[in-house]
Amino acid sequence: MNETHAGASRLRNLMSRGATFLGTEVAILCGAMSWVSERNLVSAISNAGGFGVIACGAMSPELLDAEIAATKALTSKPFGVNLITMHPQLMELIAVCGRHGVGHVVLAGGLPPAGSLDAIKANGAKLICFAPALALAKKLIRSGVDALVIEGMEAGGHIGPVSTSVLAQEMLPEIAEQVPVFVAGGIGRGEAIAGYLEMGAAGVQLGTRFVCATESIAHPNFKRAFLRANARDAVASVQIDPRLPVIPVRALKNAGGELFTAKQREVAAHLDEGRVAMAEAQLQIEHYWAGALRRAVIEGDVEHGSVMAGQSVGMVSREEPVAAIIAQLMDEAAGALAKRAA
Ligand SMILES: Cc1cc2nc3c(=O)[nH]c(=O)nc-3n(C[C@H](O)[C@H](O)[C@H](O)COP(=O)(O)O)c2cc1C
Repeated sequence: MNETHAGASRLRNLMSRGATFLGTEVAILCGAMSWVSERNLVSAISNAGGFGVIACGAMSPELLDAEIAATKALTSKPFGVNLITMHPQLMELIAVCGRHGVGHVVLAGGLPPAGSLDAIKANGAKLICFAPALALAKKLIRSGVDALVIEGMEAGGHIGPVSTSVLAQEMLPEIAEQVPVFVAGGIGRGEAIAGYLEMGAAGVQLGTRFVCATESIAHPNFKRAFLRANARDAVASVQIDPRLPVIPVRALKNAGGELFTAKQREVAAHLDEGRVAMAEAQLQIEHYWAGALRRAVIEGDVEHGSVMAGQSVGMVSREEPVAAIIAQLMDEAAGALAKRAA
């Protein structure tokens, strides 16, 4: 067997557990991205052999129903649905997934609320959760989740405080044998995929790398901002006053981010002066970004909207079909494995 074949076959072996779990050719998920991960991108990912995930976000059960139906019309391959735990109609959304026979539900935003895990599993679906720390991962495994995603702070969107490389070292040796674990955050090339697979990951989840896919409906301005950006432009939101909690989100620097800092200063000053009550002040901060991702992704306002992006954005260099992105990632991963074996 020549070196290239050896690398490709080792990659297939390392991905086989994750691919079997997902029902795919390759163990690469495209993480759900609100407004971006809709029927077109999701079906393109699944058709290219990966695993697409619909981002339900704040959709109503009726909208989710229509989105799943439309995705099914575009692909016969497996795909998943990402639901946010704090959605007020979570149980109805789970029922919609059940009616469509969705095979994998991803719960994001916290531990599964009472009843949700049983409802998902009663539908015959597999449940994937995010594990932000080892203790929580163990608890989730005990409660019966089927797979975990560990996501580092390099990722785009809502982030935790720990890097992917540290999470992978801390968690994979302890939990990777028990359930399939998918590593996410900061992955831009296949060499990194090979590394995490060799550490015990069943597969990987990428978001940022897929935003500029030809099939992604993100506004041309949103894609252009990605193509121009470097790793250091994807920054975490900053909290400037301990009284005013800010949810950490990684996004490209823009005028909206600067105005947000100014807004925090203004609200903090109003608090100091007693012009606003604490609850109202906190609400003003919380509501600042409402609708901001849609404004950037759909309307193309990349100056005042939220251009969520991970640090791997610097490795996004052109608009190209999903199949080309997956093929490149797989080639890079196989090449790295071939070199290590040589
Ligand atoms: C524009 C954007 C929107 C996102 N929206 C969501 C979301 O709605 N729900 C979610 O669980 N994760 C969301 N994420 C995170 C992705 O699903 C994925 O885990 C992450 O992008 C992986 O890290 P990477 O960006 O470094 O590849 C989002 C990421 C981006 C870049």
